[in-house]
Amino acid sequence: MDDPVRLAIIGCGGMGRRHLLGLAELSHSPHMNCTLVAVCDPNRQNAEDLADEAHELLGERPAVFSNAEQMVKDVDGLEAADCPTDTGSHHVAATNALELGLNILCEKPLALTIRGCKRIIEAAQSSGRILSVAENYRRDPMNRLVRALIDDGAIGQRQFMIETDSGGRDGIIITPWRHMKLSGTIPLDAGVHNADILQYYIGDAHSAFGQVRLLEKTRVRRNTDGPGGFYAKWASGMPESIQPTGEDAIFGQITFANGALGHWVNNHAGHGESLHQRKVFGTRGSITSPGDRNGRPVELHIDDVGVITGARVLDYAPSYRLQPAAAALFGGERIWHYDFDFPTTDRKLLALEYHELATCIRTGQQPEVTGAVAMRDVALVYALFESDRARRPVTIEEVESSAVDAYQREIDEQIGLLAPAGAAL
Ligand SMILES: NC(=O)c1ccc[n+]([C@@H]2O[C@H](COP(=O)([O-])OP(=O)(O)OC[C@H]3O[C@@H](n4cnc5c(N)ncnc54)[C@H](O)[C@@H]3O)[C@@H](O)[C@H]2O)c1
Repeated sequence: MDDPVRLAIIGCGGMGRRHLLGLAELSHSPHMNCTLVAVCDPNRQNAEDLADEAHELLGERPAVFSNAEQMVKDVDGLEAADCPTDTGSHHVAATNALELGLNILCEKPLALTIRGCKRIIEAAQSSGRILSVAENYRRDPMNRLVRALIDDGAIGQRQFMIETDSGGRDGIIITPWRHMKLSGTIPLDAGVHNADILQYYIGDAHSAFGQVRLLEKTRVRRNTDGPGGFYAKWASGMPESIQPTGEDAIFGQITFANGALGHWVNNHAGHGESLHQRKVFGTRGSITSPGDRNGRPVELHIDDVGVITGARVLDYAPSYRLQPAAAALFGGERIWHYDFDFPTTDRKLLALEYHELATCIRTGQQPEVTGAVAMRDVALVYALFESDRARRPVTIEEVESSAVDAYQREIDEQIGLLAPAGAAL
């Protein structure tokens, strides 16, 4: 085996803690190919705490830093950084780390806006370093299986996909910054996962028509521990209520480049029955996907055959085969379900992201979710926001080129990615 890649974690909040568990999962597997040597966060306490956790989990305490420049100076042979900083800082933290010569694993969404995405992609291009984006949903074995069923023609040609999530009521979802326009609305922060799955299953989106809403004008503190309980240590600092400035619901129609259509609801202000529905329809059948990180089986419906469930689904996906590291972590190359709790599943998927980054660094191959793929996901989310502003369908090309940018322009001006009208930057 090559020398393990020497890696830092930049951003030691909730997701930083989850990433550390992913690294621990990888380090206890035969596929271990990277080693944590430093952690970095301007919030010194968060960095010190993560270093303590790393000591417990990995046996060695990484060096602690408050800024990346000092870290690169002081740590010998540092090759890569994982950037699970909050979304509004990706264009600063990831760009800076790339410019310092590090290969990067950046959390999704790649950046707060398309201009932010471009800044990071350009830094990767000019430094010649690898930029991989941590899009974990598609790595779920059940999503790999659905994609193989579609590719192998189990339901004929792709025609239509429904992706619906509704729930959340008026609770603060994980952290207040997820509810503010200038730091990342929840349909961007969470919805970008769904944008990735829509395009992973069906192909690149061509255009979209959408409406977006800010439905809950006040949100209150409820589940302060966050998914898997990872945010419990910050619970006491959570405000009792907030006044969101960012939209919390998007409703859209998508036309894909291959002619298929999509219907997408990502409503984080849903009351009553909570709904999570993901279905793909083709010219001879349909697939009901179980969703993400739950390991429930995929269901296949084929005209004149009926419902196909359980291991029989595999007969319709001959190409389905997990990569060796995924097969080792999830218990087989062609699994049709799994039975791990959320934290266990979460860390296995994160382990795969680290494994791929280190493999790419050693082999020079490109990661699955490059900057371009991740920017297309951000563009699909913003297509709905920009369409709402423009009151017409917009193409992904218009969004990616910033030809339509009325919604994002205000953010870019505020975060320094664009000079305010009439001013020089
Ligand atoms: N894939 C998933 O399932 C998933 C789940 C949750 C969060 N995320 C993503 O992870 C990212 C982080 O989310 P979170 O919930 O952990 O946020 P958080 O607010 O809990 O933590 C962010 C941390 O980044 C630090 N930080 C900010 N700027 C920095 C900089 N320039 N350098 C170093 N550190 C910096 C902050 O001090 C804080 O400690 C977001 O992009 C979010 O979308 C992904």
